[in-house]
Amino acid sequence: MNYRHAFHAGNFADLVKHAALTRLLARLMADPSPLTVVDTHAGAGLYDLTDAHQARSKEAEAGVARLIGHDLPPEFDALVAAVEARNAPGKVETYPGSPSLILDALRPQDRYLACELRPDDHGRLGTLLKRSGKPAQARLTDGYDAAVEMAREAEGRLFVLIDPPFERPDDYVRIAETLGAVLKAKPRATVLVWLPLKDLETLDGYVRRLEALNLPRTVVAEARLKPLHDPMKMNGCVLTATGAPKGFEAELQVICDAVVAGLGAPGGKAKVWSVGG
Ligand SMILES: C[S@@+](CC[C@H](N)C(=O)[O-])C[C@H]1O[C@@H](n2cnc3c(N)ncnc32)[C@H](O)[C@@H]1O
Repeated sequence: MNYRHAFHAGNFADLVKHAALTRLLARLMADPSPLTVVDTHAGAGLYDLTDAHQARSKEAEAGVARLIGHDLPPEFDALVAAVEARNAPGKVETYPGSPSLILDALRPQDRYLACELRPDDHGRLGTLLKRSGKPAQARLTDGYDAAVEMAREAEGRLFVLIDPPFERPDDYVRIAETLGAVLKAKPRATVLVWLPLKDLETLDGYVRRLEALNLPRTVVAEARLKPLHDPMKMNGCVLTATGAPKGFEAELQVICDAVVAGLGAPGGKAKVWSVGG
């Protein structure tokens, strides 16, 4: 596995995903009943933006460092607070990954399983989770399989975040299979999926897979930073949300609009639509 999230932490795609994640967690946590959270591809959990990986990629410079100074809508409040809590005033040198944001929201009655296959990142993740003192476990395991296993075993409410590196051609297939199996075991589960947006054909293929699953209503939120002329580039990103609480769809529109307006090129646009249901 070559992918290291440290190169990309804090880029525009993380901002879309993480603002959405904090809003979805807030809505799910409005219900006092216990919630099991599975993060299928957790990464290291917390990123040093001053290290060599970031210095080379400069993705956070073009992402979180630029956007955080903008006048942002309230949908970004929790993410901005999480970034500010980990940095000295006026600086953005540390960026919280999905495990940090989930730990911030986790209550004593909840449970969090974070899966990561890279031994080095899994080690960092384990330390972060242990230090939090929250009911959380880091597992060096395949996240797709773990999500299905948890959907079959866990009692009560379930939320799954699926955020693969898309290094392998079968990630789209595995996401759809996992989504189908999780919802078969737990029809009311909430599942948030992150996808890169390079060309529309790949996205269409994925959406056709979703339609074949007869899913409950699934929101598709596209943040196109630029027109999709070059399929070799990451021109934007997509989130799909299945079984999300009411009101989340409108928040996705606000989040995608703000990132496209703040960081996009001419011709960029945000689009939120739905399939299934
Ligand atoms: C996009 S990053 C995750 C970022 C993280 N979700 C966040 O938002 O901060 C994807 C991670 O998945 C790991 N990975 C790749 N294949 C995996 C698998 N089958 N199961 C679990 N982790 C995997 C990679 O090593 C990488 O750290």
